[in-house]
Amino acid sequence: MKKPVVVVTELEYRKGETVFASASDLEILPGPSAEAPLAGLIREKKAFAVVLGVEKYGGPLYASLPAHGVIARFGVGYDGIDPVRAKEHALFVINTPGVLEGAVAEQTLFLAGVLLRNIAVLDKNMRAGTWTPQLGTELKGKIWAVIGLGAIGKQVGKIASFGFGARVFGCDTQLPAPKELEKMCGIEKASKDYFEIASSADILSLHIPANKETHHYLNFDRLRVLKPSAILINTARGSLVDEAALYDVLAKGKLTGAALDVYQNEPYRPVHPNKDLRTLPNVVLTPHTSSSTREACERVAERVLQNIRYARTKEVQKMDLVF
Ligand code: GLV
Repeated sequence: MKKPVVVVTELEYRKGETVFASASDLEILPGPSAEAPLAGLIREKKAFAVVLGVEKYGGPLYASLPAHGVIARFGVGYDGIDPVRAKEHALFVINTPGVLEGAVAEQTLFLAGVLLRNIAVLDKNMRAGTWTPQLGTELKGKIWAVIGLGAIGKQVGKIASFGFGARVFGCDTQLPAPKELEKMCGIEKASKDYFEIASSADILSLHIPANKETHHYLNFDRLRVLKPSAILINTARGSLVDEAALYDVLAKGKLTGAALDVYQNEPYRPVHPNKDLRTLPNVVLTPHTSSSTREACERVAERVLQNIRYARTKEVQKMDLVF
């Protein structure tokens, strides 16, 4: 019997290759991430499911899949997927929460360390043959503002407080019980009000989802209340930050540094030619790799396949729509 076909965009295929290559019940094919050729391949191979990264898909992809076919995100968030089109074509849209939060939280802490101890600058100077010791900053006792108290934000709070002795403040539109926050995540104060939490922060990290309401969440008004000595870490989504405003506060010394893993345009392209974040010495940049550990990618690939197999079961196929 012919195996059900699943097309996985190339980058995601490589991230989960060991798992994808060893699945014996499905035919798993790598495919292009650009929408038109991807849709063409799905039609040609009569694929039942497609596995996608973070790119935006708003065109022919949806019609290329059969009704009750699957769009599976390799990761969390649905921000590149158009829910209206998915619904029109009766597609199941699924993602993989619960398996990559630890990887993103770890990277958030590591990026803070790179900035606080000037590691990128010192490394660059050493390679240039210069010996330029500088004083760093400790995390212990510093105020870390965690914006977004979902699984990743809570994990960041836990590591920063219990691991490094930072004082962690949290902010979210919906707050878990204070006792749970403090006992489980070491978060000593929480508020729905960004301004109450952010103005005392030494480190501020973003962990909120990208949607219409959070577009340019970190705009000039929210940036300007940060202490000039503060640093920003964004391992969530690029659209949360107004990069032109961020460039301005960093260039003027109104913020000490920023470590970014995600961008408005990916691959990175400055939002304005005169506001290229790569030209600033107080910025550390990585190419959207926070969840990309070997361990997390293996877990994500396994979860993606579990989801796809589950979506093929009779009881799920009878349902109207799962999103
Ligand atoms: C990566 O950012 C993901 O959505 O998993």
